[in-house]
Amino acid sequence: MSSFVVLGSQWGDEGKGKIVDLLTERVDIVARYGGGPNAGHTICAAGQRFALHHVPSGILREGVLCVIGNGVVVDPASLLKEIAGLRSAGVRVEENLRLSDRAHLILPYHRGCDIAREEAAREGKIGTTRLGVGPSYESKAGRYGLRVADLGDEGLTLEKVRRLATTLRAACGAGLPREFDPPPDAVAQEYLRHGLALRPFVADTSALLNRRLDEGAVVLCEGAQGTMLDLDHGTYPYVTSSTSTAGGACTGLGISPIRIDGVVGVLKAYSTRVGEGPFPTEQDNETGGKIRERGKEFGSTTGRPRRCGWFDALVARYSVMINQIESLALTLFDVLDDFDEIPICVAYEHDGRRLDALPADPAILAGCRPVYEVLGGWRRDTSVCARFEDLPQAARSYVSRIEAIVGCEVGIISTSPLREKTILRPGSRIGHWLPPR
Ligand code: IMO
Ligand code: MG
Repeated sequence: MSSFVVLGSQWGDEGKGKIVDLLTERVDIVARYGGGPNAGHTICAAGQRFALHHVPSGILREGVLCVIGNGVVVDPASLLKEIAGLRSAGVRVEENLRLSDRAHLILPYHRGCDIAREEAAREGKIGTTRLGVGPSYESKAGRYGLRVADLGDEGLTLEKVRRLATTLRAACGAGLPREFDPPPDAVAQEYLRHGLALRPFVADTSALLNRRLDEGAVVLCEGAQGTMLDLDHGTYPYVTSSTSTAGGACTGLGISPIRIDGVVGVLKAYSTRVGEGPFPTEQDNETGGKIRERGKEFGSTTGRPRRCGWFDALVARYSVMINQIESLALTLFDVLDDFDEIPICVAYEHDGRRLDALPADPAILAGCRPVYEVLGGWRRDTSVCARFEDLPQAARSYVSRIEAIVGCEVGIISTSPLREKTILRPGSRIGHWLPPR
C-alpha cells in the first residue's frame, strides 16, 4: 500500500525515536535502514524510558514487525543485550523483530581501530562514538566484512575473522588497544555463539518487506543519524560512514525507490551536534548552556554534552531538498519556552559575501557567520497545548516563519518526550501515508 521514510534533518538526535514510536500506531512494519549502535533513539512510554540502538523504534507497539535491514551494521553482543533488556521490560521481541541475513557485523577490531584512530588524531579527529561503526562500513566496502549469514558456516567465519584481524591491525598504525585485539579464533567462536542466539531473528528481510508491501502493508522506514551526518551529503569528513538520507532506505532495506511514497523530516526547534566539525549557529556560551540544560542535551549513546545553537534554516532547506521532505516534525519545541528572543539563521556571511546555501568546503563552512532574523519569544509553557491554535501567538509565528523560510509544512510539533504531548496538525501530508485510525 505505502511506505514512507522518517529521517533526521540535522546532525542526529532530533527525536526520531519519539516520532517513529508515535507514527507506529498506524503502521505494520518499522524498518531501520542504516547506522548501528552509534544511534540512540529514546522512547518514553508506559512510564518507562527505553534507549534503543539497533532495534527499530516500533518495538514497543504490539503487532508491529520491526526489521533491522541489511544497511545496518550490528554489534551482536550489544544487540543481544538490547533484546534482553526489552524482554525483561516485558516487550515481546521474539515475534516482532527480524534481522537481515545480509547485515554486516562489528568486531572488536573495528572498535579498537575506531578508538585508536581517534586517540592518535590531533587535527583530523571526528569525535566518533568509538563503537567501530566507521571501520565496519570500511570492511563492507572493502569486501572482506563478516555478515550475519556467514555465522552459519564455522569455517567461513573463522577465515573471515582472521582476515579482519590482520587487515585492521595493519590499518591501524598505532596498534589496536589490547582489550580490542583478542585472538581471532576466540572471536570466531564467540561470534558463532552470537549467531546461534540471533538465529530466531534472522531472515531475508528484503524478500519479507517486498512480500508484505505486495500484500498492502504500510512500512515506515526509520533513519538513524541525520542528513548533515550523511557520508555523501553531510558536512564531510565530519560525518558518519553510511547513507542516512532518504536514498539509504532503498539500499539499506532492498526496496525500490518506486515503493517509497513520502518522507518526513524530524528536526529540533533549534540545533545540536555531537563530535567535531563546523556548526555555524553554535552558541558556545550561556545561551547554549541554557538550551543544553532545558533540552537535556547529553548523548544517549556516549553521554557526551551536545553542542547547542539556534535553528539553521539553510540546514533545514538543504535537508528538505536532498530528501524531498514533504512534512516536518518539529521537536523539543518546549525547550524554547523560556527565551525573550529566538533567532533563526536565514543566511551565512563569508568573506563579506552572503551565502544562501551550504558550501561543500568544511573550511568555508567553519568560517561562515550566521545572518539571523530575530523573532520574539513567548515565555509560556507550550507542553500544555494540545492543538496548534492553543500555542501562544509568538510560538505560532515561529513555526510559520520556519515553514516559509524552509519551504515545507510543519505537520507535527512535539512539546515533551511523552507520546501524548504532541500537536498533530490536521490536513498534514503525513495523513496521506497513514491509514485512517
Ligand atoms: P542518532 O540516530 C548524533 C556522530 C558522532 C560523530 C560522527 C561520526 O541518535 O541521531 P560515528 O561513530 O558514526 O563514526 O561518528 O557522527 N553521530 C551521531 N550524532 N546522533 C547520532 O545518531 C549519531 N551517530 C553518529 O557523534 O560526530
Ligand atoms: Mg544520538
